[in-house]
Amino acid sequence: MKIQQNISLKEFNTFGIHVNAKRFVSIESLYHLQELLKTEKDVFLISGGSNMLLTRDIDKLVVHINIKGISIDRENENSVHLTVNAGENWHEFVLWCISEGYGGIENLSLIPGNVGTCPIQNIGAYGVEVKDVITKVEAIEITTGKMHTFSNEDCEFGYRNSIFKNEAKGKFIITSVSFNLTKQTHKLNTSYGAIEKELNERKIETPTIKDVSDVVISIRESKLPDPKKIGNSGSFFKNPVISKDLFEKLQKKHPNIPSYSVSNTEIKVPAGWLIEQSGFKGKRFGEYGVHEKQALVLVNYSNASGKDVYDLAKRIQKKIFEDYSINLEIEVNII
Ligand code: EPU
Repeated sequence: MKIQQNISLKEFNTFGIHVNAKRFVSIESLYHLQELLKTEKDVFLISGGSNMLLTRDIDKLVVHINIKGISIDRENENSVHLTVNAGENWHEFVLWCISEGYGGIENLSLIPGNVGTCPIQNIGAYGVEVKDVITKVEAIEITTGKMHTFSNEDCEFGYRNSIFKNEAKGKFIITSVSFNLTKQTHKLNTSYGAIEKELNERKIETPTIKDVSDVVISIRESKLPDPKKIGNSGSFFKNPVISKDLFEKLQKKHPNIPSYSVSNTEIKVPAGWLIEQSGFKGKRFGEYGVHEKQALVLVNYSNASGKDVYDLAKRIQKKIFEDYSINLEIEVNII
């Protein structure tokens, strides 16, 4: 456990933004994390760095959570219960599950980031959210060093939301996540339009979990930039949920506005559509811009500053409010 001085965080965040960490330590075991917390309480955590926009240098000790390992807690012929340490890469974990024949997270293929952060924003894609398979989350309380177990219910999961973004924010370090996955009779979720279409094109009538994963990977690759090539953090904004009244007003002006019903009084509208209509899709401003194939994704072409990207996000929010009276909420953590 070696504390390093003045490290660039460019390699540690998927946006590829350079900021300086005054002090930096990479932690590879629970024991080392507990030891560290005995003396260091004011820490800044970084894991896969896939849901943050760094806009300033970090003066606190940056703790890179790199604890690896997967264990099978119990299994029977139908299901398996696994505990996965926080530093495992999410997509590699998904691929490993598919190779072992474990189903439930195939729709979440190719999502950047690590296992330890998947519960924080309740990652979701193509009709599945990780909350559907999480049984518990283990975390250390920073001030006391004590381990806490959060059941699925304790996590208070919502759309891109959990207790770790609210009451528990900044108080805990997630060390492992446990999942219940299927071994037989997988509950495939292929209802999302693009998945069905792609399966039909491939003439697959009875898909396996691998088929679904392959299809999800190809859909994501066709729309979303690979963070290894173009810095980004996936969806920068949440899809806004608006009142039915406002939706009906907007529909009169924009008859083709897409929507998903949330309840009798609320409607979800794709932020990507709003941003595209407002003229930002594919716009490049030097080092940063809005992705050409998915307007919900802001990108860093190489050396943008976090502040540049954040200013662009604020410009987009202002324009969407002017055009549609909708407040777009940022999904990524602004640091
Ligand atoms: N759309 C546009 N223009 C765009 C993008 C989208 O008009 O540039 C419209 C289209 O009408 C399209 C609809 O938006 O039919 C939905 O688009 P898409 O299927 O790409 O999904 P999304 O709502 O834009 C959400 C998640 C993604 C997830 C996909 C698939 C949020 C904030 N984003 O995007 O999650 O991969 O659904 O399930 O909920 C992420 O969180 O980082 C992420 C990529």
